[in-house]
Amino acid sequence: MKTVACLAFLAVPLLAAPVQISITPKPSHDVPRSLHGLFFEDINYGADGGLYAELVQNRSFEHAESLYAWSPVSRNAQGTLSVSDDKPCHPQNPHFARLDVKVPGEGFGISNEGWDGIVLDPGANYFVSLFARHAAGKGKLIVRLVDETGSPLAESSIPALGKDWKRYELTLKSSRKADHAKLEVLSAAPGITDLDVISLFPENTWNHRKNGLRQDLVKVLKDMKPGFLRFPGGCIVEGRTLDNAYRWKETIGDIAARKQNKNRWMDAVNLKAPQYYQSYGLGFFEYFLLCEDIGAEPLPILNCGMSCQFQNAEKVPVGQLQPYIQDALDLIEFANGPTTSQWGAKRAAMGHPAPFHLKLLGVGNEQWGPEYLERYKPFQAALKSKYPDVQLVMATGPRVDDGHWKLIMDQTRKGLPADILDEHYYCPPDWFLANADRYDRYDRKGPKIFAGEFAAHVAGLKSSLQAAIAEAALMTGILRDSDVVSMASYAPLFAKKDHTQWTPDLIFFDNRRVCLTPSYHVQALFSQNRPDAILPVTLAGNNPAADASAAKGATKRLYVTAGIDRASREIILFVVNPGNQAEEASISLNSGSFAKGTGTRIVLASNSPDAVNTLDSPDAVKPRSEEFPVDGGAITTSFAADSLTILRVK
Ligand code: AHR
Repeated sequence: MKTVACLAFLAVPLLAAPVQISITPKPSHDVPRSLHGLFFEDINYGADGGLYAELVQNRSFEHAESLYAWSPVSRNAQGTLSVSDDKPCHPQNPHFARLDVKVPGEGFGISNEGWDGIVLDPGANYFVSLFARHAAGKGKLIVRLVDETGSPLAESSIPALGKDWKRYELTLKSSRKADHAKLEVLSAAPGITDLDVISLFPENTWNHRKNGLRQDLVKVLKDMKPGFLRFPGGCIVEGRTLDNAYRWKETIGDIAARKQNKNRWMDAVNLKAPQYYQSYGLGFFEYFLLCEDIGAEPLPILNCGMSCQFQNAEKVPVGQLQPYIQDALDLIEFANGPTTSQWGAKRAAMGHPAPFHLKLLGVGNEQWGPEYLERYKPFQAALKSKYPDVQLVMATGPRVDDGHWKLIMDQTRKGLPADILDEHYYCPPDWFLANADRYDRYDRKGPKIFAGEFAAHVAGLKSSLQAAIAEAALMTGILRDSDVVSMASYAPLFAKKDHTQWTPDLIFFDNRRVCLTPSYHVQALFSQNRPDAILPVTLAGNNPAADASAAKGATKRLYVTAGIDRASREIILFVVNPGNQAEEASISLNSGSFAKGTGTRIVLASNSPDAVNTLDSPDAVKPRSEEFPVDGGAITTSFAADSLTILRVK
C-alpha cells in the first residue's frame, strides 16, 4: 500500500551543501528493451535439483555411482538389485536398474531420496513416468510415495509389463505434506524387471508444463521483467575437457534420449560436489520456452571448440571445427527454421511449430588469446554468411582491462568484425564505484557491450547490501551508457542451500523457499523501472567527501542517471549513495518544471551495509515504495547511506 510520507527517509545529520542535480528533459538516446537480463548457469544446483522441477535424482542411473540416490526396498520380499547395460531403452542412456525377484511378497524394488528429500503438498498431484520391461512379459509394478518413516502417502500400480521397453505414466496424489518423502518403485512379480528414466514431477510446474520448471523460481525471474536470458552458462559451456563440454543437440528430444553429462562444477571446491550431473532435462528447448514464458530474448552461448582455459584448455584444431560450427548453424535453424527444415521439424515435434525468433548467439564463454580469435573467425564467417541478422556475442576473457581483454579491444578497433563484446567483472565494491563511468569513455562507433557477468565481491563473499549498492552505482553507468551497453546481467543467478560452489549469487533457495538478495532487488528495480530513453543530467557539488564518510573507491557523492517513461510521462531518476552518511540533493529541470501532484519514491536501504537476506529472514532488505508531494519547484530530498533510490515524477 502506498502512503504519503515525509521526504526524509532514514535521515541522519547532513554535513555538506546539497548536490545540485539538473535534468535536461530532452532525451539523448533510447534505452534498449533488452538492457537488463539474466545469466543462467547450472552451477550451485541451479538446474537439476533447482529450477528444473524433476523430483528424482539420478533418474537414468547414469552417475558414475549408478545407484547414487537410490536404495533397495523390500516389503516382505526377496530379490536383488543390480545395474545393467544389456539392451538399454536408449543407447544414449546405457545403464538401468535390474530387479531380480525371487519372492515378490508385497514388492521388491528401489527407492529414490530426491534432492535432500522429496517435498510434497497435501492433495497435490504428482506425475510419474518410467520405462520398464519384464523378462517373461509378466511384470507388475507398485509405485508409491512414502514419508521418511516409510508410511505411504500415495500408491498406484502398473498391472501388466511386457517384454520390451515401454514408457508408463501414472498420477499420484499426496495425502499429506512431506519434506523428506521418497519415491518407491516395486516389482510385485517374480523374475527380472528392468527400470529406467524414473521421473516424478509436480503437476504444479510453471504454466503446468510437462517436464517443467519450479513455479516459485520462474516467478521471481519473471518478476524481474528480464530483457534477455543467457543460457546455459558460463564455464559449463566450455566443460573441463571437450568431452564434458555442453553440446545442445544432446539436450533435446525425449528425456530418455538425452545424454547425461558430468556437471563442470562437480568437484569444483575440494571435491565437494562429486555427484553433480546434468540430466539435460532442462535442455535447449526448455530454455527457449522459458524465454517465451518470461518475455526474455533468448541468448544461447555455444562452445567454440575449446574447453575451459582455466582447466584443461583443450582445443579442437582450427581445421576440424566444422561440427561445432554446424551445431551453431543448426541451432539457428532449430530456433527459427520452418517446420519443413531438418531442425525446425525437431522443434515442431517437441510441440512448438512457431519459431522462437532467435536474434542473439554467443560463440564461446570467457575465452581468450589468439587461440580464441582463430576459432571465432570461422564461426563468424559461416554464421554471418547464412544468418547475417543474428547478432554474435564475442568473449573478451575472464576480466576487463587485462591483457586478454585488451587484445580483443585492439582487434575490434583494427577492424575485426564483432557485434557485441561480452565483458565479465567479479570485483570488490570499490572497483564498481571507480568504474561506474567506464562506459562513458567507450567508442560509440565500436561494437556494443554485453556486461555479461558481474557481481561485487565483498570480504566473506556475502550477498550484502554493500555489494548491491556498489552494483547499483555501476548500473547507473550502464543505464546512462545504454547506447553502447546493450545488455547486462549479474552472475551467477541461483544457489541452492548446502549445494553452493560459488558465492555471492542473486537468488538463494531450498526445496521450498526462495530468498531474494539485495543484489536481486537492485537488478529488479533497474529492470522494472527501465526508462524508454535517457535524459542528460548535470551535477554540481558532487565530489566525494574527503573524510571517512565516503565509500572506498567512490568518485562522487551520488551516482545519478535519469530517463523518461514516455507512456506515463514520468521522469525516472536513479540515485545511489554508497557513502555511510545521508546525502542531500536538490533536483530540478533545466527547462520546464515538474508537474504538481505526487511522485513515487522507491528506496532500497537498511541500517547496515552488511545487511543480508537469508532463507529464514528473506525480507530484511527489500525495497519500500512511498508517494511524496511535488509542488512543481525543485525537489530537495535526502538519500540514505548505502542506498538506491528511484524517484518517478511527472
Ligand atoms: O558465474 C560463475 C562463473 O564465472 C562462470 O561460469 C564463468 O563464466 C565465470 O568464470
